[in-house]
Amino acid sequence: MENKKTYYITTPIYYPSGNMHIGHTYTTVAADTMARFKKMQGYDTYFLTGTDEHGQKIEKKAAEKGVTPLAYVDEIVANTQKLWKLMDIQYDDFIRTSQDRHMKVVQKVFRQFYDQGDIYKSAYEGLYCTPCESFWTPTQVVEKDGVKCCPDCGRPVESMQEESYFFRMSKYQDWLIEYIESHPDFIQPAKRANEMINNFLKPGLQDLCVSRTSVKWGIPVDFDPKHTVYVWIDALSNYISALGYGTDHDELFQKYWPADVHLVGKEIVRFHTIYWPIMLHALGLPLPKQVFAHGWLLFGMDKMSKSKGNVVYPQPIVARYGVDSLRYYLMREMPFGADGNYTNEAFLTRMNADLANDLGNLVSRTVAMIEKYFDGVIPAWDQAAAEPVGDDLRAHCAQLPHLVEEQMDKLQFSQALAEIWKVIGECNKYIDLTQPWVLGKDPEKKGLLGNVLRTLAECVRFVAVLIQPVMPSTPGRIFEQLGLADENLKTWDSLQQFGTLPQGLQVHKGDALFPRIDIKKELEALNGDKEEKKEEKKEAKPAAEQKPEKKEKKKAEIPEGCIAFDDFAKIQLRVARVITCERVEKSEKLLKFRLSLGTEERTVLSGIAKFHTPEELVGKKLILLANLAPRKIMGIESQGMLLSAVKQNDDGTETLRLLTADPIMPDGAEIG
Ligand code: MSP
Repeated sequence: MENKKTYYITTPIYYPSGNMHIGHTYTTVAADTMARFKKMQGYDTYFLTGTDEHGQKIEKKAAEKGVTPLAYVDEIVANTQKLWKLMDIQYDDFIRTSQDRHMKVVQKVFRQFYDQGDIYKSAYEGLYCTPCESFWTPTQVVEKDGVKCCPDCGRPVESMQEESYFFRMSKYQDWLIEYIESHPDFIQPAKRANEMINNFLKPGLQDLCVSRTSVKWGIPVDFDPKHTVYVWIDALSNYISALGYGTDHDELFQKYWPADVHLVGKEIVRFHTIYWPIMLHALGLPLPKQVFAHGWLLFGMDKMSKSKGNVVYPQPIVARYGVDSLRYYLMREMPFGADGNYTNEAFLTRMNADLANDLGNLVSRTVAMIEKYFDGVIPAWDQAAAEPVGDDLRAHCAQLPHLVEEQMDKLQFSQALAEIWKVIGECNKYIDLTQPWVLGKDPEKKGLLGNVLRTLAECVRFVAVLIQPVMPSTPGRIFEQLGLADENLKTWDSLQQFGTLPQGLQVHKGDALFPRIDIKKELEALNGDKEEKKEEKKEAKPAAEQKPEKKEKKKAEIPEGCIAFDDFAKIQLRVARVITCERVEKSEKLLKFRLSLGTEERTVLSGIAKFHTPEELVGKKLILLANLAPRKIMGIESQGMLLSAVKQNDDGTETLRLLTADPIMPDGAEIG
């Protein structure tokens, strides 16, 4: 027991600014799959996930809701934990950065950095953009007519001083380049390592601002409490604070550190492969063995985001199709490391093809034929009747654990599943080739028939064991159908040899593992009421009035996540000149615009007061969604919506800018 090999895997700790969606679920399922795989192989595994709770964004969201930041995040954390339970996620620990155990470690680490001279306090003379609430360095600002301007919004910046602590990142730059170059496995996929070296390290690292005096919802710097620890030192430390690093109870840290792999989305690879290694090195600690940056789950061509309104949540999918189907899809659909799409259509297609047809049919055919030809008892191997047919399949299946392991060790979940599905495909072909229903008619072929069915049953056992990390509950249903109760035959070790399935097991035909689904119908249900209502209306009409074929054909041509051109054509976008703009009384967020569309004027409200001042907008030509149904906000009717772009900042805040049109465009010009 003592000498068991360990395996420590982590997910990013997520911002509980809103409920977790399928993107967060993707990383968490991947980590869970890997942890389960290693556990099955006999590793002593530790799987950590959690939430990154501090910072300005959450402080503001809580204030908007009129609750404390802790009360705000408590609710989202509870929902997150419920979601992970639903997704069959078996984490060993869930760290919250608001927990005392974490805060103490962060304070200690921060003090150590300060004591040893890695962190210094500075009266930072920075170039500050007040509307963006951002500091910029002299090399980042842009010059317009000799005036230094914000690279984000283009407005003038001013010199400001804010007392801050800084981490001397630059001191470690050469060491880190050397480390990354001499540890090719450290950053995966490898192209990310090149990006880090060429885009960030070689051009030179800036010292990093690591404290704020203006954000209160954070961990106080204990020796200078008007400062709170700012963002990344707080967040990244979770990977060691959860293990009790720096406390009297650091047994877990001693046992599991360094982590085997930090799974992260590609947008935060920089923090994990530059700041985090430098922090660890400064603490004298070994670095994680690997940081793996996976791609984004997109919706259509877009990253999912709440502001775009294209977020997919797992709960309704799981409620309809079960958790294993969704886990399978997430791990199968795209190579880990690349971007991929989530679409309901692709999901349903895979359910039918891979789960209902390939896997489901194999299990049900195998069990049904054992029932039919051997009274439900798995036959013994009959050496006298052995024929070469099936030798390849048996040899391939015997190799399967090794093939799967090879891919899993590279975190290539999709490839690992592809290997398993190759064997499933081969089994189905083997059935077609040997035609057990023909063999069954000839008593002389009973031995061969037994060997065929036994081979299939053994392949099904291998498959069931190997899919378990991705699909935790399906294997149980397969074992039940095979009549396999012995736990020792459901393990990784039991796959060392092909053919160890005992004879005489009594199979039980059960329900279809994954019933075939009517994709068109399911799409309608998943795509919401709108489609269903259309359908109801159609049915209510007399048959003569219906033109079903034509209607359906049109719908089928529009890929999931897209809209028809006709629908787009309904949208009226117009150039709108700002005549006046003012703040709305008693609202922190709203600006009230009087807009000219040439032949008419409109009043429009927009919740952007945090990002723009009224003065700067007067005279600007903005883009108005002109045919949005009017809506009353705080007693004022808003007649349209102004378009804007939103940028997610590294520190969790957002920057928003209204979109503008070229000033030569006349008021009211149509856009399209
Ligand atoms: N709190 C930081 C991470 C700190 S780790 C020390 C953070 N949180 S987050 O809530 O924004 O979560 C980002 C992570 O969620 C991504 O890195 C990725 O793991 C996962 N994903 C969120 N949306 C995703 C997609 N659309 N697609 C794939 N993964 C996504 O960043």
